[in-house]
Amino acid sequence: MSDFESYLSHCLDTLEHSRVHEAMQYSLMAGGKRIRPRLLLAVLRAYGFEETIGYPVAAAIEMIHTYSLIHDDLPAMDNDTLRRGRPTCHVKFGEDVAILAGDALLTQAFYTAAACTCRAEVLVEILKLLSEFSGADGMILGQIKDLEGEANPGIDHAGLQDIHYYKTGRLLSLPLVCAALLAGHREDAAVWERIGADTGLSFQIQDDILDVTSTVEELGKNINSDAENEKTTYVTLMGVEAAREEADRYYRRALAQLDALPLDAAPVRELFDQLMKRKN
Ligand code: IPE
Ligand code: IPE
Ligand code: MG
Ligand code: MG
Ligand code: MG
Repeated sequence: MSDFESYLSHCLDTLEHSRVHEAMQYSLMAGGKRIRPRLLLAVLRAYGFEETIGYPVAAAIEMIHTYSLIHDDLPAMDNDTLRRGRPTCHVKFGEDVAILAGDALLTQAFYTAAACTCRAEVLVEILKLLSEFSGADGMILGQIKDLEGEANPGIDHAGLQDIHYYKTGRLLSLPLVCAALLAGHREDAAVWERIGADTGLSFQIQDDILDVTSTVEELGKNINSDAENEKTTYVTLMGVEAAREEADRYYRRALAQLDALPLDAAPVRELFDQLMKRKN
């Protein structure tokens, strides 16, 4: 287990034991890919900092991401029964507990981030970003656009980009921008935001491709979920091959923007290489 994984596994230790606590720990430690924490830690390394200074904020972002997945899987949303290779939170604990576990991971994220040892002004800024990028102007805006899209067969390329920008892109920009602030490079934040948006588009296009091309075993979640929910995706709009090319194009555009930044880009490039080839 990596040092960050071990850190994350203890973040909920101080909470009172309850079924909600059990469900939070179950979903958080179910073995996600930890892409968002890994992005934050890679950017910190690129700026020459120790990864450990980013642990509280990286853990907070992973909690917010996990909460978004618990709620995304609910019967009223995507209605999925498998996540991270395990029964979804509501299947295991019931809808009532799953809703509360999602709520509690979101609130615990702010408590966790507050343990960051950066300057107080930077911490306040990061707490605001956590709220902004995940909230009603961020990931949640994307989720409602995604739900509304289900009932709209006329959704086009630009409409889909807009959904992906919010529902996936904002939570991928968040760790990049937070890392720049922790590293004292606020002037780079706008570039990281754009890199995150491109990464988000690629990442969600891949997710939509994997939904039709992968297996339940490899993916650890239900396949054909998008078709069952009648979602418009890049695959339904342009087919798998053209969607793959589009995903690669956005990754390449994200990588090209690294050249403008004053850092050793190797740790970030390495992670992007893995993302481009991801199979789950
Ligand atoms: C799944 O995210 C939801 C999307 C934004 C596509 P991940 O693919 O990062 O899921 P985990 O964290 O590895 O389970
Ligand atoms: C979800 O997108 C993005 C979130 C904000 C949770 P999907 O609904 O396609 O993600 P999966 O396929 O269930 O992981
Ligand atoms: Mg969804
Ligand atoms: Mg889903
Ligand atoms: Mg999906």
